[in-house]
Amino acid sequence: MTKPIRLGLIGCGGIVQLDHARAYRALTDIVKVVAIADVLEENLRQVGQIFDVPSDQQFADYRDMLANAEIDGVTIATPHFLHAEHAVEAASAGVAVISEKPMATSLAEADTILDAVERNNVSYGVVHNYLYTLAMQEGFAQRARLGASIFGRATGMGLKPADFSTEHSDPAQAWRASKAKGGGCIGDSSYHEIYSVNALMDSPARYVEARVKTLSIDVDVDDIAMLLCEHENGAVSTVSSAWCVPDIDTGWCEVHTNDGSLRIRHRKNLADSLMRYTRTDSWQHLEIPGRADPEFNDSTGHVGYFAATFDALASGRELPISGKHGRHNLAIIEAARRATERRQAVDLKSLKRG
Ligand SMILES: NC(=O)c1ccc[n+]([C@@H]2O[C@H](COP(=O)([O-])OP(=O)(O)OC[C@H]3O[C@@H](n4cnc5c(N)ncnc54)[C@H](O)[C@@H]3O)[C@@H](O)[C@H]2O)c1
Repeated sequence: MTKPIRLGLIGCGGIVQLDHARAYRALTDIVKVVAIADVLEENLRQVGQIFDVPSDQQFADYRDMLANAEIDGVTIATPHFLHAEHAVEAASAGVAVISEKPMATSLAEADTILDAVERNNVSYGVVHNYLYTLAMQEGFAQRARLGASIFGRATGMGLKPADFSTEHSDPAQAWRASKAKGGGCIGDSSYHEIYSVNALMDSPARYVEARVKTLSIDVDVDDIAMLLCEHENGAVSTVSSAWCVPDIDTGWCEVHTNDGSLRIRHRKNLADSLMRYTRTDSWQHLEIPGRADPEFNDSTGHVGYFAATFDALASGRELPISGKHGRHNLAIIEAARRATERRQAVDLKSLKRG
């Protein structure tokens, strides 16, 4: 049996303590957290306890971890504006890089990461976890039985706290309210709906029309994002997200074809998370294999994502969600911002890597 991948964590906040920790605990045969870095002592202490990391492998400065810890790779789970710096430094240290979404806050930053990854010949991947929920995985199996996409749509709504601002007492809310720190609805929330519906369309987005705006909250980041994409095959899809909508019938994506339709609650692990329509059967709830297993709670898909990613890393294959995938999702976001400014659709080919 090969030895588990030795992992260092850059950022030990909310997502790591909840969903990443659940995944690493489920995957001890392929990955072991051996070193951690965070500027917040409390988060360092909490995650150090979860993984029993020796105190000399807990670092306030991630650069000390890269220089001193014996690691094969890192995961990056820091505020968005730090992803590019952290990915470039980790790649330059010669370790594999797995970054939480989005890979960066701009395409220029994304290209700097890809250059560093290529120059140092390291593996690089971006966390698109909702593609790995049980509902989505079974949805992809069903999707393979349907023909070309005609129409798709996805929605992910939420309500921010009334005192949402850069001054918020919770640092995880404060950076999300700051443009300088890469916050905002489209890069934080809609991001997931964009890659989810695009995966179901089975044809890359080509033109993007959108309105990405700040309408309900007094912050300098967007709080609403409405996208209309035309795909290479001529089909169209929409993504709608907002931070002013209380959770009601949200977190789903659909694809419609001439053979039938699928509706998936990609953000939930519920009995009604997968529906299929055909002209003979009308709408039906489909069984999701493994969903009812009380031992298995992967509502965010992180266990499935990390299992596929560390397996690819261990066998030297390209990581399942590569830098190319991460950049394409970011290009859709960049196109949506530009389309908002110009009030006209943007051709994604004009945003290709130089
Ligand atoms: N894939 C998903 O479903 C999902 C869900 C939530 C968050 N995320 C992503 O995870 C990332 C982190 O989000 P979060 O909710 O955990 O935020 P958070 O604010 O709870 O955690 C961020 C952590 O980074 C640390 N940090 C800040 N600067 C640092 C530095 N220079 N060096 C090391 N650590 C530093 C903070 O102290 C904090 O512990 C973001 O990219 C976010 O988009 C993904």
